[in-house]
Amino acid sequence: MMDLRRGRLLLVVFVLHQLCLASVFVSANVVFKVQHKFAGREKSWAALRAHDARRHGRILSAIDLPLGGNGHPTDTALYFAKIGIGTPSKDYYVQVDTGSDILWVNCAGCDNCPKKSDIGIELRLYDPKGSSSGEVVTCEEDFCTTYFETPLSGCKVGTVCPYRVTYGDGSSTMGYFVKDNVQLDRVSGNRQTTSMNGTIVFGCGAKQSGQLGSSSTALDGLLGFGQANSSMISQLASARKVKKMFAHCLDGINGGGIFAIGEVVQPKLNSTPLVPNQAHYNVIMKAIEVGGDVLQLPTDVFDTEAGKGTIIDSGTTLAYLPQEVFTPLMTKVMALHPDLELQTVEQQFTCFQYSGKVDDGFPDVIFHFENSLSLKVYPHDYLFQIRNDVWCIGWQNNGMQSNDKKLTLLGDLALSNKLVLYDLEKQTIGWAEYNCSLGIKVKDEQSGDVYLVGAHDLSSACSLNAWRTLTLLLLMAMLLNFIY
Ligand SMILES: *[C@@H]1O[C@H](CO)[C@@H](O)[C@H](O)[C@H]1NC(C)=O
Ligand SMILES: *[C@@H]1O[C@H](CO)[C@@H](O)[C@H](O)[C@H]1NC(C)=O
Ligand SMILES: *[C@@H]1O[C@H](CO)[C@@H](O)[C@H](O)[C@H]1NC(C)=O
Repeated sequence: MMDLRRGRLLLVVFVLHQLCLASVFVSANVVFKVQHKFAGREKSWAALRAHDARRHGRILSAIDLPLGGNGHPTDTALYFAKIGIGTPSKDYYVQVDTGSDILWVNCAGCDNCPKKSDIGIELRLYDPKGSSSGEVVTCEEDFCTTYFETPLSGCKVGTVCPYRVTYGDGSSTMGYFVKDNVQLDRVSGNRQTTSMNGTIVFGCGAKQSGQLGSSSTALDGLLGFGQANSSMISQLASARKVKKMFAHCLDGINGGGIFAIGEVVQPKLNSTPLVPNQAHYNVIMKAIEVGGDVLQLPTDVFDTEAGKGTIIDSGTTLAYLPQEVFTPLMTKVMALHPDLELQTVEQQFTCFQYSGKVDDGFPDVIFHFENSLSLKVYPHDYLFQIRNDVWCIGWQNNGMQSNDKKLTLLGDLALSNKLVLYDLEKQTIGWAEYNCSLGIKVKDEQSGDVYLVGAHDLSSACSLNAWRTLTLLLLMAMLLNFIY
């Protein structure tokens, strides 16, 4: 059965921690009293929540996910993170994906799981039997029936609860759900963290295909930051460990950046509402301005029903526009340079020779959203340099790609060097241009203290050049359908 609700976008945020020690940024720590609005959660999550609540009381923490990599199409195009799983806890490196809804890691005995990676990390297979806190989730358990929204047909008591996810680039993962401790960095002070753990249900990967199998870009798994109840952040929120909010600042200049769970108090951000009942982070676009002129566009490009509208997805490297938007936008972008000779590079990028300063020679592109929030994309963001004087265009035409021809997908090209805050409690998303190196501030609700969450330059600390080869796969990942 097709379950379009679970469509996913491949997001590519990696976190590299140890490799480039001294890593990263530290998040701030927030501790809150539990609020009554959490009280009415559905039964399926009650057991986990009660279990955790007993052990940890009513505390909401902020969590720091160390982030590395960068989003340059011609460089790493990747951001990644590290989490600890099991007892004793072992480290796993995972992509962070705002477009999908579960955490999974490659498991012992897996078919076609990657054995080595050129990224410079040592891959590890998770083995539920090797963790004293690991348990297999069976198909009659609440998590399983909730995940499938119905009791699983053919479920025999005691058999596993299967999962399968197909991402936008066609790669897929399948396996079964397990439950174990996940170890995270809880912010405990200014630039300080202490370890905290929570029980999470996640996928144990038994078979990988496409890019998720053997490849130079292999990692241990993927961490979905979607809104569904199955995502790690939803489970942690359900267990009253965190507020359902997270933020990222992807540093497109230095690489690395910030990825934190919790409430950001500084900088203050304006926000726009999320479109209700969508699987992804959809927002309501009102207009597009190029070089000061508003594009005249058919009104249906601003419709918000499924398969249309605008998705904010930090896991996508470039930006994908429907044909009706792409064509007038490119006409305006190139208007001052009718003589530029366009060439196709690597069969997918439109490039040209230009020796001037791109910010002087090309217009800014501004997307306007509901609530007067705008997103400005500078020429140096949407043009990327592949060689001396050779620049390629980051805007991509969705026209030819898939069913989702009406979809606008804004990826890292538009989101880098901005602080983006997802408030899933208020159902808003906000952003502002931001220098990630300045860090962000998070308030500890209990003490009222405000802590600084800093960022580090991982890309220069680590040698990630081997990644150059991998990039492009990620670029392609757009409008995905997900089959279940
Ligand atoms: C997640 O849980 C909440 C609270 O019980 C419920 O209202 C909501 O419908 C669930 N969402 C999904 C996508 O299952
Ligand atoms: C997780 O927390 C519990 C209690 O807070 C502790 O006993 C356990 O050792 C922790 N697990 C790991 C792997 O640190
Ligand atoms: C960002 O902030 C850092 C630290 O203050 C500073 O060194 C750097 O020049 C700033 N970058 C930009 C682009 O302003």
